[in-house]
This record gives sequence, C-alpha cells and structure tokens, in this order.
Amino acid sequence: MKRYVGILSVLAFALVLMNYSFASADAAKGEAIFKDTKVGNCKTCHDTGDKKKVGPGLKGVTDRQPKEWIEKWLADPQGTWAANDEHAQDLKKRMNKVDKPNTAMKLPTKLAADQIADLIDFLGTLK
Ligand code: HEC
Repeated sequence: MKRYVGILSVLAFALVLMNYSFASADAAKGEAIFKDTKVGNCKTCHDTGDKKKVGPGLKGVTDRQPKEWIEKWLADPQGTWAANDEHAQDLKKRMNKVDKPNTAMKLPTKLAADQIADLIDFLGTLK
C-alpha cells in the first residue's frame, strides 16, 4: 500500500510539472507569434506596456477585455468591430473611433485557434 502511495504521488507530481511546462510553452509560442512580422505582427502596432502605438498598449488587456472576446477579435478583427458588442464599443470609445466603420487592425495571416490560444496566454503575462 505504501508503495502505491509513493508511486501515485510521483505521478501526481509529474502531472503538475507537465501542466506547468505546457502552460509556459503556450505563452512562449504566443510571444513568438506576437513578434513574427509574417504571422501575428502584433509588435509592429502594439506596445507590451501601456504606450499607444497604432493600437493600444496591451498591458493588462486580459483584465479589461474578456478572453472570449479577445478570441473573437483575434480570429476576425473587422467582423468583431462591425458586430459592435459592448467590448468593441468600449475599444472604440478609448480609440476615439465611435463612428469609424473599419478597424485599423489588419493581420498578415488568418490565425488558427491554437495560435490564438497561445497569444491569449502570452497577453495574460502582460501585467
Ligand atoms: C496594423 C496594426 C495592428 C496589428 C498588426 C495588430 N493590431 Fe491589435 N489593434 C490595432 C488597433 C489600431 C487596435 C484598436 C482598434 C482600432 O483603432 O482600429 C487594436 C486592438 C487590439 C486589441 C484590443 C485592445 C483593447 O484594449 O481592447 C487587442 C487585444 C489586440 N489588438 C491584440 C493584437 C494582437 C494579439 C495582434 C497580433 C496577432 C495584433 N493586435 C495585431 C492594431 C493592430
């Protein structure tokens, strides 16, 4: 019995470690996409602190916008802008673009769901 408990706790510990390394790997992948001018190109338009560039500084963005909304936004910025829900309205107000029909956020490629998840993990580290 004692032996099983030992094995089980080693297994549990390994699971915790695996989980931890997956989580940080995602944020690292997200950071690479953020900087890659051919994929996300986010860094060209966004500061990771609070300085405004073309778009707002992204420090704390996962606190001011829900993750599900950021997911939609990254999958389809123009469609999300046009859908004009409360979170898009909040962004428009902050950018002084309440009446603008188009967003200035243009991505070099359409992002896949896993790339978006990695990016959101990375955005969550910008505190
Ligand atoms: C060509 C410039 C450009 C690129 C490239 C770009 N963005 Fe943006 N982003 C903007 C602009 C501009 C806005 C604000 C909407 C507007 O003014 O049209 C914005 C808004 C956002 C917002 C909402 C911020 C808030 O405060 O609500 C997030 C999140 C975001 N961008 C993330 C990203 C990520 C992640 C990438 C890379 C995959 C990216 N952006 C690439 C220009 C860009």
